Amino acid sequence: MKVDFFRHNITASERKALDKTLRGLFISTGDEVSQFEERFARYLGSPYVVGLTSATAGLHLAVESLGIGRGDEVITSPMSFIATANAIIHAGATPMFVDIEPNTGNIDARLIEDAITEKTRAIMPVHVYGQLCDMRAIHRIAKKHRLKIIEDAAHSVEARRDGVSVGQLSDATAFSFYATKNLTSGEGGAVSVHSKKLRDRLRQARLHGMTKDAASRYQKRFQHYDMNFCGWKYNMSNIQAALLLPQIARIEKNLKIRKRVYEIYMNELDGVKNLGFPVILPGSRSALHLFTVWVPPRKRDKILWRLEEKRIGVAVNFRPIHLMSYYRKTFGLKKGMFPEAEKLGEKVITLPFYPTLKPEQIKYVANTLKNIMKTL
Ligand SMILES: Cc1ncc(COP(=O)(O)O)c(C=O)c1O
Repeated sequence: MKVDFFRHNITASERKALDKTLRGLFISTGDEVSQFEERFARYLGSPYVVGLTSATAGLHLAVESLGIGRGDEVITSPMSFIATANAIIHAGATPMFVDIEPNTGNIDARLIEDAITEKTRAIMPVHVYGQLCDMRAIHRIAKKHRLKIIEDAAHSVEARRDGVSVGQLSDATAFSFYATKNLTSGEGGAVSVHSKKLRDRLRQARLHGMTKDAASRYQKRFQHYDMNFCGWKYNMSNIQAALLLPQIARIEKNLKIRKRVYEIYMNELDGVKNLGFPVILPGSRSALHLFTVWVPPRKRDKILWRLEEKRIGVAVNFRPIHLMSYYRKTFGLKKGMFPEAEKLGEKVITLPFYPTLKPEQIKYVANTLKNIMKTL
């Protein structure tokens, strides 16, 4: 049996929507993007969404549009994809890492206040694997120290915790529609915000700072555009939006299927010696984006390779950002600084996890892992 690490779930509905878009006049940013922004905002319960080319673009524009840049610090987690901290650097600011909770992998809100300096301007929590960070605690800290909050919600479209939904307590929240995400357009992203002013700034920033995009320039009569600040080229296309629109209607159904896959894995792997899992806390509805397990660190890579030999796709989410060569060199970061993130980074393995996985495939992955663990 072969179990790919990920298989997308693009169906006939997406193909039909894409076909319609491709037969239309505008394949770059236009009506489909506006529709996506409106429907995704409705799903999130957020007033505004801006469609972009990636979550990285979203995090970058959010930091920049909130007026954070050179000389400023943004607190974030080392247990994330490098995109999170890179986006802070793209905006000219400095990422300041805070260690994680060992049981969830999320930033430890109890350690945030100690990392605040007079240069701190924002907190960028990352909701790893689909579970929200302690947003109530982070919000309290941000309020007390007058800091902005920018959520990295690349893993967590569907997440809620303690009565708080993703994006509810922050200034801006970035989502990813990268190939392996719960919603996907191959590449793509979005930011949700509560302020109309910030939405307008993001809309302009995603397209060079232009005052009118192509679709609005060619309505009725030709209209000239102006440019009043230097923006980027991060606008979502109608092709991406066409692929995403039908998926919004399936989010809840797919989450139920993800939950079933999660439960089968947990049943199959129950009681396996030396195997651990991140905890989903009471009161937390995880988006169940990734299924990760913890194995003995010294055996981790061997287990990864043995799984691959058995034709099972694997990944590591994540090796901590502060240990990447660039971060060590540029910011003088080293091993020992964020011990919980380091421990997690050495023991974690991500297994295949998506709605189209069949029970026999899940059982094959679980049994293969169990057998490998027995022979170590
Ligand atoms: C936690 C996290 N943040 C940010 C990103 C970046 O997303 P994108 O590829 O859409 O820029 C990813 C992508 O994998 C991610 O996992």
